[in-house]
Amino acid sequence: TFVVTENCIKCKYTDCVEVCPVDCFHEGPNFLVIDPEECIDCTLCEPECPVQAIYPEDDLPADQRQFLELNEELSREWPVITEMKPAPDDAKEWEDVPGKIKHLER
Ligand code: SF4
Ligand code: F3S
Repeated sequence: TFVVTENCIKCKYTDCVEVCPVDCFHEGPNFLVIDPEECIDCTLCEPECPVQAIYPEDDLPADQRQFLELNEELSREWPVITEMKPAPDDAKEWEDVPGKIKHLER
């Protein structure tokens, strides 16, 4: 499966959702996740993210491993998103800010 990681938090550009052939992105208040049961590893979403927040499970950086479980868990709770929407007004300011996990709303 592919995994959405920390850098998506508070950026949430949603470019990724438009290319997914199996609609496996789910949307929370300030973060998106991929449903690992639905993802077919097509790789299309990875290059779409402007902040490189999407990784294949096998290439997850060590400090992002926890996002594997978070994607699984939150995809069961959050609704599917298939259409791009405007990013938060302050998305740019949050790009590559470390430690954003503490701002994850759920
Ligand atoms: Fe969807 Fe393909 Fe990305 Fe998986 S790898 S989330 S199937 S676009
Ligand atoms: Fe998040 Fe990147 Fe998609 S910021 S919403 S993973 S395009």
